[in-house]
Amino acid sequence: MKIGVLNSGGDCPGLNAVINGVVGAADKLGWEVYGFIDGFEGLLPEGGDYLKLTPNDTIGIAKLGGTILGTTNKGHFAAKIGEGDIAKIPRNIIDTARDNVNQLGIEAIIVIGGDGSLTTALQMNQEGFNVVGVPKTIDNDLQATAMTFGFDSAVTSVVDALDRLQTTGQSHKRVMVLEVMGRHAGWIALWGGIAGGAHAILIPEIDFDIDNVADFINEREQEGKRSSLVVVAEGARISGGKLITKSRGGTSEVTLGGVGDIVAEQLSAKTGKDTRSCVLGHLQRGGSPTAIDRILGARFGVKAVKLIEAGKFGRMVSYEAYHVGSVPIEQAVHKLRLVDPDSEMVDTARALGICLGD
Ligand code: F6P
Repeated sequence: MKIGVLNSGGDCPGLNAVINGVVGAADKLGWEVYGFIDGFEGLLPEGGDYLKLTPNDTIGIAKLGGTILGTTNKGHFAAKIGEGDIAKIPRNIIDTARDNVNQLGIEAIIVIGGDGSLTTALQMNQEGFNVVGVPKTIDNDLQATAMTFGFDSAVTSVVDALDRLQTTGQSHKRVMVLEVMGRHAGWIALWGGIAGGAHAILIPEIDFDIDNVADFINEREQEGKRSSLVVVAEGARISGGKLITKSRGGTSEVTLGGVGDIVAEQLSAKTGKDTRSCVLGHLQRGGSPTAIDRILGARFGVKAVKLIEAGKFGRMVSYEAYHVGSVPIEQAVHKLRLVDPDSEMVDTARALGICLGD
């Protein structure tokens, strides 16, 4: 038996741990693993572009950030465009991939991806490819899984950044604003903000008024607090306004960014306090995975192989109540999993006295 594995879309701490899990489990079954280079793009060159992976090739990779296979964000297989519209993979691309997969004798492919890549995986499954998905994204915004691998590492980076911003903010009596990733979901901001001791957390799911945040900061000052930490998710909209974007690629999803600077400017103007903003950016994506993500990655990789062994194609590995199971891929895509404003996590933030700006 020969199987393929590829990762697609943005990289994410824990990718190599998944690959290691896949290779280990497949080897136990006597299967060969072909790791396709740069995501789905590796299916296109004549004969395919791949690395044959044995346990010897993956020794020590589980602790490494990035991916030994490389990845592609935009490419020939993009199944989502603009702000999330679905696109059809062109027929000639599907046919070329099919020819190469058949020629190599590959019977199933494990796709490690987020919403966009799993939308591609679903289309390929509908085209007759035997596909199994693994949920990957720092944003933690996939439906049908309580957690994606990579999220914990991103949250850990936010906590580290807040710990550092807190000490310098305290020294200078400043308001420190940290913009974090997450696209249209506030998970990274909410979890990172709570764990990192933020005083205000602004997320896309909760409409906030910048005046409320300014009033909250002024009250803190009157109470004698020297500084305030504000976490803002890149997808948060100021006072019900527009999404702040950096660019809009024609064939890819919009790039978010810039809301942190605007929040900082407005807070400075409204409070008169010295304010600085910091964009954490890709520091949240790079670097070694946390222990949680290494373990999730290993479990997800092994489970993906077991799904193939059981002939359960068109399914995605999922995590629910400490159990690794699986769901149909279509349950995981097309609609993002967002923070529920009435959830216990949001209540926890409020109970801790954190301002959510509403
Ligand atoms: O989806 C993961 C993510 O890191 C988002 O949080 C962020 O908006 C986006 O990818 C950044 O993408 P890029 O690496 O293309 O700038």
